[in-house]
Amino acid sequence: MKITVVGAGNVGATCANVIAHKELANEVVVLDIKEGVAEGKSLDILQTGPINLYDTKMIGVTNDYSKTANSEVVIITSGLPRKPGMSRDDLIATNAGIVKSVTENIIKHSPNTIIIVVSNPLDVMTYCAYLTAKIPADRVFGMAGILDTARYRTFLADAIGCSVKDIQAVLMGGHGDTMVPLPRYTTVAGIPVTELIAADKLNAILDRTKKGGGELVNLMGTSAWYAPGAAAAQMAEAIVRDQKRIFPCCAYLTGQYGLKDIYLGVPVKLGKKGIEQIIELKLNAEEQALLNSSAVAVKETMDVLDGMNVLVK
Ligand code: LAC
Repeated sequence: MKITVVGAGNVGATCANVIAHKELANEVVVLDIKEGVAEGKSLDILQTGPINLYDTKMIGVTNDYSKTANSEVVIITSGLPRKPGMSRDDLIATNAGIVKSVTENIIKHSPNTIIIVVSNPLDVMTYCAYLTAKIPADRVFGMAGILDTARYRTFLADAIGCSVKDIQAVLMGGHGDTMVPLPRYTTVAGIPVTELIAADKLNAILDRTKKGGGELVNLMGTSAWYAPGAAAAQMAEAIVRDQKRIFPCCAYLTGQYGLKDIYLGVPVKLGKKGIEQIIELKLNAEEQALLNSSAVAVKETMDVLDGMNVLVK
């Protein structure tokens, strides 16, 4: 089993570190364009092996895609992160060119791979990778929902005073302020969350969740990496271990939820073939309206990408 992580920045390096710790692959390749960075971080992760007792082989390379050949899973984290005051969409011009070129190189050397996109703006960069890779959409999808629900679950556990382990939640829509957390599908050890928290507190948590990425950008001057890196690694784990786990992921819709030709966060089943099922919840009118608004916002950014002529369809 071989997994490649493209981008040895904070998110890529964290993701590779989690993958190594969990021994999800015998070989993990980390690739970056900055000379020596991927080599250095890979060596550092490798040297954690004797301490944390794992044997994962780490290979860091500067732009040498031949070393990524025949990867089963590739995680693309390349691109600029957000700075305070920026929305994820502000990154589109720079990151689309980067994601396109990375995807071309990846597919050349690993035509059968599954691609997980982490670069922002997430939904549109996943679409960009899909158009470039020209492989079925069940093998190209994005990481956002696991991260966004992790934030939601963290805030809920803190407010309720319970373990995060007992909070189950699903969240849909784009990875931006229009994301749609679904309290009706949130439980604490099987108990509907609304029975354990007051409505005003829950609403404040929903709001904080939607702006969760921005909260961290404002604190650190750049975007988050521990939870994003771990979330992408969790998707890789579900795939390489064929776990059939159900996670909210950014997936290509072909009519589900009345939406098509769009990448958007929905619950999916992840296994060795990639997205093995898109799960369709019976949303009520209010939830569907929120999802539709989120789809409109994502579609607008997709149109920006289409208008940029970075991609030849
Ligand atoms: C965040 C970035 C990774 O939400 O989009 O933290």
